[in-house]
Amino acid sequence: MKAIKLVGTGIALPSRVVTNAELETTVDTSDEWIRERTGIAERRIADPSVATSDLCAEAVRAACENADLDPSALDGLIVATSTTDTLFPSTACWVQHKLGIKGMPALDVSAGCSGFLYGLELATALVAGGMRRIAVVGGEVMSKVVNWRDRGTCVLFGDGAGAAIVTPGDGRSGVIASNWGADGNLAPILYQPAGGSRMPATHETVEASAHTVHMEGNTVFKHAVVAMSSAAVQAMKDADVTADDVTLMVPHQANMRIMEAARERCGIPREKMYSVLHKYGNMSAATIPVALHEARTEGRIHDGDIIVTTAFGTGFTWAASVLRW
Ligand code: ACO
Repeated sequence: MKAIKLVGTGIALPSRVVTNAELETTVDTSDEWIRERTGIAERRIADPSVATSDLCAEAVRAACENADLDPSALDGLIVATSTTDTLFPSTACWVQHKLGIKGMPALDVSAGCSGFLYGLELATALVAGGMRRIAVVGGEVMSKVVNWRDRGTCVLFGDGAGAAIVTPGDGRSGVIASNWGADGNLAPILYQPAGGSRMPATHETVEASAHTVHMEGNTVFKHAVVAMSSAAVQAMKDADVTADDVTLMVPHQANMRIMEAARERCGIPREKMYSVLHKYGNMSAATIPVALHEARTEGRIHDGDIIVTTAFGTGFTWAASVLRW
C-alpha cells in the first residue's frame, strides 16, 4: 500500500454545451464522423473570460467541501495543466489568489493528459515528507489553445477541472501501486509550438496558428494504447490485483477507441469501464478527476472497490494508478 488516499473530490464544468451539430456549422465535419472515430457527442466550452485557474479554484473549493476541509487548511496545492493562465507565475499561484489562501507551497505539473496522475505521484512524495492535506487538481481550458479551423483537432477537446484532496493513507484504502514515465524524444508529435522561449509570440506566430495544438493524431493513438495498457498492467501486477478484482477502470478520456483498446489489453471487461467522454470530450489533465468524481456521485464506487486509472499525454508522458477506495 502506498502512502496516500483520496478523501474528497470536486469538479467544475462550464455551462455551455457545444454539440457535434454545432461544430458542423463551423468546420467540415459531421456528427457521424466524430461519434464513430472518437465517441464524443458534445463538450463543455468556457466563456472567453474564464481561465484555467477559475475552473481549478472552483473544483478545489468543491473537493474541500466534500472532504469537510477549509481551503486555508491545505498544506499543499498541485495544479496539473497544459493551459496555464500565464507563463509565470504558476496557475497554482493564481488558484491561491482566487481562493484567497496563502502560505502552503503551490506548484504546477506539466504532463499533459497524464498530469493528474503525475500530481498524485508528487503528492505521495510530499506526504512521505510530512504534508497532511494536499489538493491535486487537473484543469484545462483547451478551447483557448485549439485551432478552431482544424477539424482534425478542434472536435476532440473540452474544458473542465477536477480536484481531489490527498491525505496520508490508513493502510486499508488509497493508492496501492502506480507506474509512470515519459519519452521526451516524441515531444514534437503533440505540442504547442509558440508562446514559450523557443518561439515567442510575434504577429507571424499568431498568423500561422502556432499557438494552438499541433498533433499527429495516428501516432498519438498508437502510442497511447500501448503506454496506457502497459502502465496499467504493470501497476496491477505491482498491486497484486487481477482483472477480476477490478471494480472499475477509469482511463484518461481521449478517444473511445483508445480507451477500448487499452481496456482490452488489460483484460478488463467492457462493463467495468467508466466513461464521461461522450459528454465532455478530452479535457486533458481534467478527465480522470472529473470521471472519478462522477463515478463516485453516481454510486459506481464504494469503499473497498479496486479502481484502475491510466493516462497518456503530450511529452509523451504516461501514468497508471491502482486504488482501493
Ligand atoms: N471530421 C471529418 N473528417 C475528419 C475529421 C473530422 N473532424 N478529422 C479528420 N478527418 C478526416 C481526415 O482528413 C482523413 O481524411 P482523408 O482520408 O480524406 O485524408 C480521414 O478523416 C481519416 O483521418 P485519420 O486521421 O486517419 O482518422 P483517425 O481514425 O486516425 O482519427 C483522430 C483521427 C480522432 C484524431 C485519432 O487519430 C485520435 O484520436 N488520435 C489520438 C489523438 C488524441 O487523443 N490527442 C489528444 C491529446 S493526447 C491524448 O489525450 C491521449
